[in-house]
Amino acid sequence: MDKKNWWKSSVVYQIYPKSFKDSNGDGIGDIVGIIEELDYLNSLGVKVIWLTPIYVSPQNDNGYDIADYYNIDEMFGTIDDFKRLLNETHKRGMKLIMDMVVNHTSTENYWFKEALKGEDNPYHDFYIWRDKPNNWSSKFGGSAWEYVESLNKYYLHLFDVTQADLNWENPRVREEIFKMMRYWLDMGVDGFRLDVVNLLSKDQRFLDDDYSDATRDGRRFYTDGPRIHEYLNLMNKEVFSKYENIMTVGEMSSTNIENCIKYTNPDNKELDMVFNFHHLKVDYKNNKKWELMPFDFKALKDLLFTWQVQMEKGNGWNALFWCNHDQPRIVSRFGNDTVYREESAKMLGTVIHLMRGTPYIYQGEEIGMTNPNFESIEEFRDVESLNAYEILLKDGVDEKEVLDILNNRSRDTSRTPMQWNSEKNGGFTKGTPWINAAKNYTEINVKLEDRNGNSILNYYRKLIKLREESDIISEGKFIPVLEDHPQVLAYIREKDNKKIVVLCNFYEKSTFVDWDELKNIDKVLLTNSKENRIEGNKAFLGPYGSIVISINNL
Ligand code: GLC
Ligand code: CA
Repeated sequence: MDKKNWWKSSVVYQIYPKSFKDSNGDGIGDIVGIIEELDYLNSLGVKVIWLTPIYVSPQNDNGYDIADYYNIDEMFGTIDDFKRLLNETHKRGMKLIMDMVVNHTSTENYWFKEALKGEDNPYHDFYIWRDKPNNWSSKFGGSAWEYVESLNKYYLHLFDVTQADLNWENPRVREEIFKMMRYWLDMGVDGFRLDVVNLLSKDQRFLDDDYSDATRDGRRFYTDGPRIHEYLNLMNKEVFSKYENIMTVGEMSSTNIENCIKYTNPDNKELDMVFNFHHLKVDYKNNKKWELMPFDFKALKDLLFTWQVQMEKGNGWNALFWCNHDQPRIVSRFGNDTVYREESAKMLGTVIHLMRGTPYIYQGEEIGMTNPNFESIEEFRDVESLNAYEILLKDGVDEKEVLDILNNRSRDTSRTPMQWNSEKNGGFTKGTPWINAAKNYTEINVKLEDRNGNSILNYYRKLIKLREESDIISEGKFIPVLEDHPQVLAYIREKDNKKIVVLCNFYEKSTFVDWDELKNIDKVLLTNSKENRIEGNKAFLGPYGSIVISINNL
């Protein structure tokens, strides 16, 4: 593996600091808490830690509303704590990447406060102002424009009203942002996860959309916008290219493959890899997040395969993931979080980790944490969920159903405290947690799983090791197989005539596949249940069964 592409054989672990570990009993996770658990992260085998934003922020969107790009919010600790974290991470041979939000700032940011002072202020053009709003929607509900009386103008906010979009057309904005990114890299940070970074370039005509379906809400005028590749190329030139062995991953909202190839093909000099979300909309009814429907297995398989194959063809690189701080827990979503929690969590991990790309683990995924199933709206915290609650009630959905929808779709489902042990609040805090822990922490926690050789946690350790040790997985070709099987997702990874075959049953019902290649089995590399077996041409898979085998081709 050439050193430059070290992240192809690595796994990234995402920490949501607010919910990871509280060291001082105020109910909020903090940097010292993270330092306490670095040995645990190292024991997993992950090579990179990604921290969601810890900069100074009023926390209206949990840190994605940055008020000061150069300092750490006191609720998480001090800049010295952060430097110690960086140092302790590096000492253990791991890297640390930070979340960077450059599409918008908090309205508490100095730049915005200055911008409000009037058109003559040098910061006024840091934001996007119009005399009249168009009909674009905010992603958190309502209009994307907010009126400022003193200026008799509207500013654009694609997210919360306290998250004002930056004007990337302005070269001074770009310079300020690049300078700030270099500040963190100079400190020793190993790269960035770039928040909604494909939304930076807005079509300057600001045309109305037609609302002919749920996606016609303005997004086509700013998603993968007219100058986005130019901006990212510039960011690469002015920032990334000046540092060695860093990594960059862009969060791409509502994007397409063609653009994601451009973002990540090394010849274009933009980013190392990208997240896309299409595979996480296969349970959205009519493309709507707040309408429930069982997941569409065929659509899921088609999407994953298409992205794998096309990105490889275009020499792009995927970030592979099921979970993050915006998504429900995968075992509660495409798996089974009761009887087959262990099998389905392992099977789902297998699907993602052995594909072509860099896998991400979101805190708690490695122990099979579930959605919490809150009992009332009082337990929810997220601005998007609280808005959705009001909107759904107004639309006439009854309250019980609204809660059910939120319990399946709210971003809070994944933001509950990390479950470390069976003590109160799962060992996350000695105080009152800012959001309730899921009640199942007595059965699902790190301490129990660490000791159990068959646990989800120890299975994840094996998946991570397999990628680290096998260049078939980190570098091989991806070949979809058995595409029409109604319940199995299967693929081959291949390099230098050596093959690894992955077979995953997405359902409770046992099943089998009949396939000639299986005769050439060399050995079973991983299996998630005693019920899985290979006999001649056939592989039998138990409920949510998954099996990984190597094949002798010679
Ligand atoms: C991204 C973040 C999300 C945040 C949004 C606005 O999607 O992951 O948590 O609310 O951007 O910054
Ligand atoms: Ca704390």
